[in-house]
Amino acid sequence: VSTYRLHRNALADKRGSYPFGAIVSHVGALQAQKEIARCPQYRPTPLLPLQGVARKAHVAAVLYKDEATRFGLGSFKALGGAYAVAEVLRERLEVELGRRISISELVDGSQETLTKTITVACATDGNHGRAVAAGAQTFGCQAAIFLHEGVSAEREAAIARYGARIVRTLGNYDASVAAATHMAEAQGWIIVSDTSWPGYEKIPALIMQGYSVMIVEILAQIEASQGALPSHVFLQGGVGGLAAAVAGYMWDRLGPRTPKFIVVEPEHADCLYQSAIAGKPTPSSGDLDTIMAGLACGEVSLVAWKILEAVAEYFMTLPDAAAMEAMRLLARGVDGDPPIVAGESAVAGLAGLLALGKDVRSGMGLDQAARVLLIGTEGATDPVLYRQIVGEAR
Ligand SMILES: Cc1ncc(COP(=O)(O)O)c(C=O)c1O
Repeated sequence: VSTYRLHRNALADKRGSYPFGAIVSHVGALQAQKEIARCPQYRPTPLLPLQGVARKAHVAAVLYKDEATRFGLGSFKALGGAYAVAEVLRERLEVELGRRISISELVDGSQETLTKTITVACATDGNHGRAVAAGAQTFGCQAAIFLHEGVSAEREAAIARYGARIVRTLGNYDASVAAATHMAEAQGWIIVSDTSWPGYEKIPALIMQGYSVMIVEILAQIEASQGALPSHVFLQGGVGGLAAAVAGYMWDRLGPRTPKFIVVEPEHADCLYQSAIAGKPTPSSGDLDTIMAGLACGEVSLVAWKILEAVAEYFMTLPDAAAMEAMRLLARGVDGDPPIVAGESAVAGLAGLLALGKDVRSGMGLDQAARVLLIGTEGATDPVLYRQIVGEAR
């Protein structure tokens, strides 16, 4: 479908030892998994082999990590936002009470008198806010979630369901981040942002550690099926947190066996692509107008960018039409593959893989022996839009 842009990042170099352990690491992921697994609803999500898609893409294998069922919240973001809420509450309570606090004490409500006086706040395109709101409800604090003009009524309703206060802001995602930060400072709320800027790195890094639990699961699932490691990973990018969490964790864990990474963004929300070209954090060249709501970000996350500029071999952009086509393809099931419900932002990686022409593929080592990992980051999180693009979700 239509045109894509592809940039090879000449700076990517994973030969040395992993230098970003303070942001994302194997140890950090295991710690996050230990805490997250204490929640009774925790289940690893499925890793689906898609042989039909692999044949279509002329590669040996395609593995699809399906995050649609994560914690009943519809996206991988549940691993980051809710985990970070628990961690910031824990830290605050430990200072007040002068002793160690467990996640169980937050879940069973025994600290409610203290937690309900605390408010966490964030801006969101939908999924992160839902995760933070759900975390606040589970762990007993208040949440204020800032939504920009482009966030649909369906996404707002999905957040409000968790009892969060909704604040509508003018402008785009970046403007909502600024509004949330400003108001949080004035009100004494704790910002739990999935994007990072100078001086604000700790919580976004915690969120990325939560995301990396997906890769802990994936590597265990590959090992259990006696499969080979992926050679290429296509990763959709908003602010870059997901891509950096996956790529950083894999480098730390796999060293020289780390796959190649290809970061995929909407053509009008291309901050990572533009940053790769400029060699430094650079805003999107477009107006952020895209159906891929989770990827509609105009500026990179600083901590994510530090990892991605060193680790991602390729950056690419795609038109919305490519994502819509990929959603329909997964919903039908390609050539014997099971039908999969995947939202607009979930399919950018797949759409990127399918967009590449033969010569380009071979230049990237995407040949008949290649094994591709895709992260299906969400289900139909905007059911109305999903129906418009694909038809009824099964
Ligand atoms: C479904 C989905 N996929 C991918 C992303 C991209 O994640 P990040 O902004 O960390 O790059 C998002 C972000 O909200 C998302 O909601």
